[in-house]
Parts: sequence; structure tokens; C-alpha cells
Amino acid sequence: MSLTPFYDDGTCTIYHGDCLAVLPEIPTVDIAVTSPPYNMGLVPGGNGRGLYAPGASTKGGRFRDGYGEHDDAMPAEDYDAWQRSVLAALWERVRLGIFYNHRPRVIHGRLQVPLGFDYGLPLRQIITWDRGTGIDVNLRHFCTRAEWIMVFATPEFALVDHAASGMGDVWRLGIETGVPDHPAPFPAALPGRCIDATGAASVVDPFMGSGSTLRAAKDRGVRAIGIELSERFCELAARRLAQESLGL
Ligand SMILES: C[S@@+](CC[C@H](N)C(=O)[O-])C[C@H]1O[C@@H](n2cnc3c(N)ncnc32)[C@H](O)[C@@H]1O
Repeated sequence: MSLTPFYDDGTCTIYHGDCLAVLPEIPTVDIAVTSPPYNMGLVPGGNGRGLYAPGASTKGGRFRDGYGEHDDAMPAEDYDAWQRSVLAALWERVRLGIFYNHRPRVIHGRLQVPLGFDYGLPLRQIITWDRGTGIDVNLRHFCTRAEWIMVFATPEFALVDHAASGMGDVWRLGIETGVPDHPAPFPAALPGRCIDATGAASVVDPFMGSGSTLRAAKDRGVRAIGIELSERFCELAARRLAQESLGL
């Protein structure tokens, strides 16, 4: 397969396509930072069709068109197997490690942890990301405000200094409000911390979405590769990268 970038500015490169097809073709990078679709199809609030399925939400706004190409409502076993494949493909491409943002979900009244905690990779740590707000408000459980960042570390993984370690494993970072055209962006400060704490000189995000990881990388002069299935989000990320730095 020969890759033709959707966008390239010398620091950041975007590939429009399925990450499993693209990942084997990219060069090795220091770290991956990514947040996959969460398979929220059966979570209350999804109208039984998936919160991120096109047209599934009555909320309009950023949720109206969901993820477009990806309906986010796979059978749980298929979803877990798919995500393990992506993690395995990523592992082949990273020198230091993977920061994998996911979240616990209550589905049919039972807590489901991401991939049943079975990742097939060495898990170093789980960072709690306190978003300060959540979307699954209902009477059956407390609204989920915490997301997790699973850190899969190679033997070469190390933090840049003790101050980075002292940052701790609870990161209070507000949600991203400046990207209205994507239903689930994380704040650029999140990948920014991962890059700063590891001193990474290059990063990949296989579920790039609105390009938050690439935006954080570009602000730091760090090489970045993003992969995204939806052309609409490739265009959105390219627009974000063309803007002046926001200094986040
Ligand atoms: C949770 S969002 C990522 C949001 C991103 N962190 C941001 O800040 O905007 C997941 C993204 O994965 C994309 N996606 C779904 N399946 C994909 C695949 N097979 N390959 C690449 N991207 C995919 C979706 O279109 C969606 O934009």
C-alpha cells in the first residue's frame, strides 16, 4: 500500500483511512496517544442506536451526525477484538509506549471496564482523567466523570524528570469546548501532557478525530501522524492545524 497524505505541513501528517490498514505503513514513533470510539451503542442516552451513530441522538448539535462512517454499536466481543488488534498494531510502531484513553461504562445495569482489562500488552499504569462533567446522567448510577488513560509501556518508557512523576495519576482537565464540529474531542492539554512527560519527539493518533493530538504536537514542534476514517474530521483537523497556536 502506498500512502497518500490527506494533509501534510512538514510537522503533522493526516491519513484518511482505516487505522488498521494505515498503521503498518507508517514509520516508528516515540508514543501513541489516542481515544478510540467507546462503543456506546447500548448506553442509556444512545436511543438504542448508539450515542455516536449518525442521526441517533435527539440532542442535535455536535452529536447530531455522530462519527459518520463508524456507528459505534458493535457486538461487545467484536469491539474488544478490534481494539486489541489496533493496540497490537500500535505496539509494533511505538518506541516508548501507548496512552490509551477509554472509560468505564454501565451497560444494561452492569459495569463494563474497557476490553475487560485484557489488552494483550504490558499495562504500566492507569491515569484517571477527571473531566469535571459527564454525559450519562440517569437514576441508575452516578454520572461517569472519570475517564481512564491506560499506559502501556515498553522497557524504554521513562518520564523526563521527577516533576513529571509528581504530576500524579489524577489529571483534572476540563473537556474541550472549542471544537463544536466533533462529538467527542479530548482537550489538547491531555496529549500535551503525555508528550511533555515523556519528552516524545514523535506521536501517532490512530483515532485522530478533530486532531487534538496533532494540534498539541504542532504547538510543541513535535512530529505527529493522525489517522481518521471520516473525511469530515480529516478536514476539521486540517483546519485546526492551519490555525495559529493556541498555546495549550
Ligand atoms: C473518540 S473519537 C477521537 C477524538 C479525538 N481524540 C479528538 O480529540 O478529537 C474517535 C474517532 O475515531 C474515528 N474512527 C472510527 N473508526 C476508525 C478507524 N477504523 N480508523 C480510524 N479512525 C476511526 C471516528 O471517526 C472518531 O473521529
